[in-house]
Amino acid sequence: MDKKIKRIAVLTSGGDAPGMNAAVRAVVRTAHAYGMECVGIRRGWQGLITSDFTMMTRESVAHILSRGGTILYTARSMDFMTPEGRQKAVSTCKMLGIDGVVAIGGDGTFRGALELSRLGIPVVGVPATIDNDLGCTNYTIGFDTACNTAIDCIDRLRDTMQSHERCSVVEVMGRNAGFLALYVGISVGATAVLVPEHDLDFEHDVVERIRESRLAGNTHFMIVVAEGAGSAVEISKKIKEEVGIDPRVTVLGHIQRGGAPNARDRETATRMGYYAVKAFAENRGNCIIGTQEGGIVEIPIEEALKMERHLQMDRYRIMEAMQVGGTLKRIED
Ligand code: F6P
Repeated sequence: MDKKIKRIAVLTSGGDAPGMNAAVRAVVRTAHAYGMECVGIRRGWQGLITSDFTMMTRESVAHILSRGGTILYTARSMDFMTPEGRQKAVSTCKMLGIDGVVAIGGDGTFRGALELSRLGIPVVGVPATIDNDLGCTNYTIGFDTACNTAIDCIDRLRDTMQSHERCSVVEVMGRNAGFLALYVGISVGATAVLVPEHDLDFEHDVVERIRESRLAGNTHFMIVVAEGAGSAVEISKKIKEEVGIDPRVTVLGHIQRGGAPNARDRETATRMGYYAVKAFAENRGNCIIGTQEGGIVEIPIEEALKMERHLQMDRYRIMEAMQVGGTLKRIED
């Protein structure tokens, strides 16, 4: 990038995550601090195609730091997946004099960012998704708040499951990844946690866990299922068939995406938003802002998209060791 950046755009795309607003605020305020103008694009990449924008002032982002969702709205744009759609987005950038775009979102958002950057519009990505499933960063905005929301819900469920001496099967989000389920499962002391990264051995992972727990004197059981590992309804049916108890199913669903961002998400979003604009101010574009060992890193978009994130199997083993009758035998195998 050799051109001085005078005007940037900011958008949020894909599933919303608590802390997206904090990131938007940080981008807008840092842009103004650098003497740049900032255009807000509504509804993610779709808004760039339809030229759906609003000028962002320091005041326009007042009082949003603590709010969940995104004031810029979000969408998963099908049109942006077509060359025609992307050309329209480029035309909007040219028309509005946008020198660079800060795109806040997850994997799909960054794939869009790569495509746009290939058409000559510099993009900086800020990772925000409750799934925490990106290889280029060890943390994505929204994850901690979503974990705490799920934990709060499950703690409530436990009260009623304990009173009725029941089994609860709770499905948490995470798309194809088990990060959310594993963190939540460890934090609520689940009887069993099912994640897509681990091949399900129903007898060992579910039946034996419930049985051992019962033999140890427990009369209620909490099974946490990542949506990518299977349906809570199906798991519940199988438990009924094989253990002879009648579980209650709760799909936490979109409730996990809402609510005020917690301290970690507000602070991380503010830092990432700041560094995204700083990259533009220092003439670096086409990268993703990530955190590695707590510090901020910039990774070229193409490279970032190739990086895989693996579930921390040490945490999986810790979860197993915490279970009643839990055995570390698998580690030795
Ligand atoms: O990526 C975030 C996420 O909440 C996933 O955990 C979930 O699978 C998906 O989005 C749900 O998408 P939608 O809001 O389009 O139903």
